[in-house]
Amino acid sequence: MDLLHKLRAIESRLAMFEDAAATPGLTVIEGVLGPCEVIVQGRPTLMFGSNNYLGLTKHPDVVDAARRALDDYGTGTTGSRTANGTFALHEALERDFAEWFGKRHAIIFSTGYQANLSLIGGLCGAGDVILIDSDSHASIYDATRQTPSQVIGFRHNSADSLRRKLERLPRGERNRLVVVEGLYSIRGDVAPLLDIANICSANGAYLLVDEAHSLGTYGARGLGCAEDQGVLDRVDFIVGTFSKSLAGIGGVCVSDHPELRALHFLARAYVFTASGSPSNVASVAAAVRVIRQHPELRERLWTNIRALRRGLRDVGYAIGESESPIVPILIGDEERTIALWQGLLTAGLYVNLIVPPGCPKDDCVLRASCSAAHTPDQIDRALEIFARARSRSAESLALQRGHTVARAF
Ligand SMILES: Cc1ncc(COP(=O)(O)O)c(C=O)c1O
Repeated sequence: MDLLHKLRAIESRLAMFEDAAATPGLTVIEGVLGPCEVIVQGRPTLMFGSNNYLGLTKHPDVVDAARRALDDYGTGTTGSRTANGTFALHEALERDFAEWFGKRHAIIFSTGYQANLSLIGGLCGAGDVILIDSDSHASIYDATRQTPSQVIGFRHNSADSLRRKLERLPRGERNRLVVVEGLYSIRGDVAPLLDIANICSANGAYLLVDEAHSLGTYGARGLGCAEDQGVLDRVDFIVGTFSKSLAGIGGVCVSDHPELRALHFLARAYVFTASGSPSNVASVAAAVRVIRQHPELRERLWTNIRALRRGLRDVGYAIGESESPIVPILIGDEERTIALWQGLLTAGLYVNLIVPPGCPKDDCVLRASCSAAHTPDQIDRALEIFARARSRSAESLALQRGHTVARAF
């Protein structure tokens, strides 16, 4: 078999979209009009498909901090944290995170993906056991693949399934790590962290919670689902990303375990890659300050979530049960999902398209995400586009099938 065969298969799949309005996965944002409005194909487009949950990408304090760091430190660090890439800015941001979380230690990474690679790869070796939720993000799956550890999956968000798997392991060992997410990124459902923490304690397992989507959006201080569910002190390692609410790029882990510091020498995804650029690190520090000083941003986000969910239900879309910044619109069939996504984009609304391999074949989803920066007018305009697209799609299905489609999407 030719090595290039896999790539040619993708090319021929893309060719199917050549004449279509837009090709999934290849949307180009040509300009940014605001935190929730961009230009795509020359047209102003409402952005309901970013992870800019608190709308901080254009916040004046965040932008100013980046600009000042650019002037003071230049564009890049040109090296890894361990070699020549640790600037005072990196250490200051680690102190900020430790203080914000009330944890003794924090370590930052160049991306959230690398945070998981570093943590899981640094902690787990031969003879260890990693237990992961079956809906885990690719960075968690990939992190487990780099280790010689035994990897065991458990049913999504099922504390019972986790308990059964842990109870089958030999007792008395401290060589097992349970990895879950606070808020799951496709369906927007939240992990039962209290039950999971109790099961980990009862079975001598360490617990890592990836709060990529929940950092900034959940909890009285915005620390995520562990804070929201009152179990912050029961979690061994909290991982976060800067690429969502924090409007930058990078990742972090906070923990009370002093051993965390050794990742600086041990974690390959940290040691063998360049550190975050000064402007980015400074902008993330400013975003943390804004989040800490402005809890009303979170209130605005949740008001918007409720308005979007109510509106989508009113126009007949099936959406997931869990109320979160991620609103999954359940469509099912791949072709219909792609057609609807293209229709929305052509009408000026960008949402995320989730088709295989991101989900099972007949379980395709459009994923809308909310931001504190969405205005009521932007939400109304988005809902109008959703409503028009739904009636067009229902009409075309009725024509194709020769009958009226009564079922909601
Ligand atoms: C749960 C989870 N972990 C980690 C990541 C990776 O974060 P980053 O984009 O900072 O690499 C993501 C990104 O979507 C995610 O959803």
